[in-house]
Amino acid sequence: MTAAGAIQGSDPILQMLAVTRRYGTRSNPVVALSQVSMEVRPQDRLGVVGESGSGKSTLARLLLILEDPDEGEVRFQGRSMSGKSRSELAELRRAVQIVFQDPFSSLDPRLRVGDSIAEPLRSLGIQGDHRSRVQELLDAVGLPAGSARMYPHQFSGGQRQRVAIARALASQPRVLVADEAVSALDVSVRAQVLNLLARLVERFGLTLVFISHDMAVVRHICTRVVVLYRGQVVEQGQVEQVFRDPQHPYTQALISSVPTLGGRIVAPPTFDWESPSS
Ligand SMILES: Nc1ncnc2c1ncn2[C@@H]1O[C@H](COP(=O)(O)OP(=O)(O)OP(=O)(O)O)[C@@H](O)[C@H]1O
Ligand SMILES: [Mg+2]
Repeated sequence: MTAAGAIQGSDPILQMLAVTRRYGTRSNPVVALSQVSMEVRPQDRLGVVGESGSGKSTLARLLLILEDPDEGEVRFQGRSMSGKSRSELAELRRAVQIVFQDPFSSLDPRLRVGDSIAEPLRSLGIQGDHRSRVQELLDAVGLPAGSARMYPHQFSGGQRQRVAIARALASQPRVLVADEAVSALDVSVRAQVLNLLARLVERFGLTLVFISHDMAVVRHICTRVVVLYRGQVVEQGQVEQVFRDPQHPYTQALISSVPTLGGRIVAPPTFDWESPSS
């Protein structure tokens, strides 16, 4: 294990070691994650897949230390985050950001969009000219400068997700977690927002954790994949390897439900992850 202060470029940024998370009551527990071990390495585009209720969002919340595991440990840059104080978590808060699924509930309706985007800068105590930073971020996600003065209800779902992405990028994170970030969008808008994510990952050298139930998209954009089934990791590995030769029956079932055309995975329309600069 790497000693603190000697972090290598390829060492995991985030790690879960035998993490278990339960909800419900003591007499009637819901085991959302059970003995999950996984890692996020620099420059990964890591897909996390599994059916509804398999524990994907729970895994995301634990990676961001929005809640704590009941058993096991989450490590950030080699250091255990168990029992850390707010100030000790500050570095992780800057470095790991998330975009949630629902563009309608993830923005505070009372805040102007510019204030929503600047909120992490304020709460994390990041110095600088927040107003010009907000303009840069709006530009990066393809929204007009005047958006800063507007309110969430004045935007479409796709535009709100762009705002959510801008806010997530405000603190210049290393890792972006996208939890079904495009699932709620119409198909054509979904492709646009995916392409935007692709360009941003490329431009800012982001590490991506892409949570999705859409295996075709995961195969298209991810380099590695973790398969969750009923709170357990049943398979993980290189995307091509897992798709070519899935070991677990659940993974086999997931993959066989992906639409194909002459043996080739059907990519979403107008999807251009492989040429993100276009
Ligand atoms: N705050 C909570 N309180 C009680 N149970 C919860 C809570 N959060 C999650 N669960 C339960 O934990 C399990 C995993 O939920 P989770 O939301 O992580 O799944 P998911 O894979 O993200 O599902 P989806 O694809 O529907 O988003 C489910 O059984 C869920 O009902
Ligand atoms: Mg979820």
